[in-house]
Formats: sequence, structure tokens, C-alpha cells
Amino acid sequence: MTTFNPIIGNQIQKLQSVASTNEFLQKEIKKGADLKEGYVVVANSQYDGKGLENNNWESAPGLNLILSAYLKPSFIEAQDQFLLNKLVSVSVLDFINSLSSRTSNKIKWPNDIYVNDRKVSGILINNTIGGNDILYSIIGIGININQLTFNSDAPNPVSLRQIFKTELNLDECLRSFLEFFNKRYNQLKSGDFRYIEREYIDSMYRYNEWHLFNINDKGVKARIIGLGEFGRLRLVLEGNTTIECDMKEIKFMI
Ligand code: BTN
Repeated sequence: MTTFNPIIGNQIQKLQSVASTNEFLQKEIKKGADLKEGYVVVANSQYDGKGLENNNWESAPGLNLILSAYLKPSFIEAQDQFLLNKLVSVSVLDFINSLSSRTSNKIKWPNDIYVNDRKVSGILINNTIGGNDILYSIIGIGININQLTFNSDAPNPVSLRQIFKTELNLDECLRSFLEFFNKRYNQLKSGDFRYIEREYIDSMYRYNEWHLFNINDKGVKARIIGLGEFGRLRLVLEGNTTIECDMKEIKFMI
């Protein structure tokens, strides 16, 4: 029998309303709160939810999962921090896959979760680095569960309720997601990164297909072939040149 040691969610603080759960945890730490690894903050609503690249994260009150977890992944070197993006993406994907395997559930690089070409979840990871170590990591996760209309200009948002045509229980979703998150975290901690690496690559949105991308403000046809150093996206262009891009350099055209 395998022993299962749940770390993430050993303590869960529920907040009614907060600007941003990531920001909340960051402030607690700055104030000197002695948080145990795995501390999780869940909010009913956020009024200044943060997304990647200074975007906002839209989430209607009481309808979705909004949470941040405090991790101390001391077994990962700072230069390998993209492993955390893989870990969380794969964990969210596990959760979505457990609900339906009939839909096309994918990880859009670097860490959006897409179902049938629409974004159901976003992840925002804030790492605090000291030398070559990750001192701590705040892992923010938004999963659209029951929201039926989206008002922001975010591209392609969708909720699980819109996809599955049925309302889901938020507490049950949280419990189930944390179970997958813990399993994957233990897998990473055990030192064998290959399962998560493999699952991430196998589940990449538009992997190995020719598509039009916006690369440095130009429409370019390219094919994703994997990841480079620091989690950069590796693509091949027509004519067989291989390039690597970071988030500022490339946009998917969907
Ligand atoms: C993105 O796709 O741009 C990332 C969105 C991340 C949203 C989550 S919701 C919980 C946590 N708190 C925040 O302010 N943002 C993250």
C-alpha cells in the first residue's frame, strides 16, 4: 500500500472577499506569519484578481474556485522553477480529466488549462528566490466552475458548468482538486520528475501541429515541439528553423 501524505490543504483559510488570494498570502508572509507549508487560502470572491502579464482574473462571487497555496519546494533549484508550472498545470488537468475524458482537455503553454479550445483555468505562480533556492512559492489557481457569463475581454473563457451542462459542488471540487495536487506534489518530492514532465508534454495544446502564432508581432506559421531551458516554448518554423520563445515573445492565435 502506498502511504499518502497530504501536505497541501493541511490548513485551509476561507475568506469571504479579498483583493487577491496571492496578494493576501504574500502580505501575511511579509507581516511575519509563520505559515506551515501547504497552507491554503480560498476566497468566495476577489475584487482585484491577478492574472499573468498584469491581466485581471474575472471570477463571479461564489461560483468558482479561487485559491492560493503556500509551498516550500526546497528540493527544486531556482533555475528549474518551471517544474512548478508543470506540477500545477498537470494537477488541474488531472482534476478536469477526472470529470470528463470525452472533452479535449489540454495545457496551453505555459499554464492555462483549455477544454475544447476555451480557457477554464489560469495559474499564477509567485516564487521568492534566494540564491539558487526557491525560498517559498505562492501558487494561485482559478478554476471556472459554475459561472455562466463572462464580462471581461479575456479571450475564450469557459466554465465547467458551461461545458458539462450541470452545476458542480464547489467544496467537492476543492477536495478533489487538492487530492490530485497532493498526489502530484508527492510525486515531484520523491525526486522522479519524469511522470509530470511526460504528462505535461503529452497534454500540450497544439503540440506538434502547424498553427499560426503571433511571434514578436508577426503572424508566423510554426509547430510546437517541446520546451527549452527555463520552460521556454520551443517551436519549429517552416524551413525547419528551431526557435525558443518566452511569454512576451509569442501569442497563440485561437
Ligand atoms: C492567468 O491565467 O492569467 C492566471 C490567473 C490566475 C488567477 C488566480 S485566482 C487565485 C489567485 N489569486 C489571484 O489574484 N490570481 C490567482
